[in-house]
Amino acid sequence: MKIKNILIAVLAVVFATGCNGQNKNNAETRHDTSLNEQTSNTGNMKKSIVIFFSHAGDNYSVGIIDTGNTKIVADYISEITGADQFEIVTHKYDGMAYMPLIELAKKEAAAGELPPYEGTAPNLSGYDTVFIGGPVWWGTYPQVMFTLFKDINLDGKTVIPFTTHEGSGLANCVGDVKKAFPKANVQKGFSIYGHEVRTGKAKLEKWLKSL
Ligand SMILES: Cc1cc2nc3c(=O)[nH]c(=O)nc-3n(C[C@H](O)[C@H](O)[C@H](O)COP(=O)(O)O)c2cc1C
Repeated sequence: MKIKNILIAVLAVVFATGCNGQNKNNAETRHDTSLNEQTSNTGNMKKSIVIFFSHAGDNYSVGIIDTGNTKIVADYISEITGADQFEIVTHKYDGMAYMPLIELAKKEAAAGELPPYEGTAPNLSGYDTVFIGGPVWWGTYPQVMFTLFKDINLDGKTVIPFTTHEGSGLANCVGDVKKAFPKANVQKGFSIYGHEVRTGKAKLEKWLKSL
């Protein structure tokens, strides 16, 4: 189980180093907008949006997937709450096998690289609640998410982080979101195993009801 050994090595390094080396470089400014103008949610939350990154293709535990694990969670959130969406898109990792991707992501995290994303940053002025979700990569969110973080202002907004992962839970993601948005009201966060998302809708519904 070579892949399993690699992931264990990844997690070991993450726990040993507390790996969160992002935001050392200046952001480049190519951005994407895939804002999905769905109806806004009802219930306790006001107008909300899910900002997420998700990598389709070769992945740990689930094999080659057409839809990334985090995207499935983001879609559930929108389905259940009516939240709009903004997907952070980069083509940098398209078609990459899992092992080279692990290595590339490791270098990016160590260097604090900020890979560009497609399109432009979303206008968040109409939103009170911002879900932020992504896979855990080397103990935090993928670096491209930090590129977007540099381009948005979440002052005064309720921010709800979530992750999909294969053992690290929320890892450093909530702390790193708090660092990126010190004037936001960052909530506790939610995590789910990537290999569980396709059968985990009940778990997500329970979490969303608890907000
Ligand atoms: C480059 C890379 C690094 C990863 N690092 C971790 C990690 O540090 N901890 C962990 O639990 N899972 C790690 N994983 C597993 C992913 O977090 C997990 O498979 C996630 O559900 C993928 O979500 P996605 O399909 O939305 O991209 C890593 C996966 C990749 C591709």
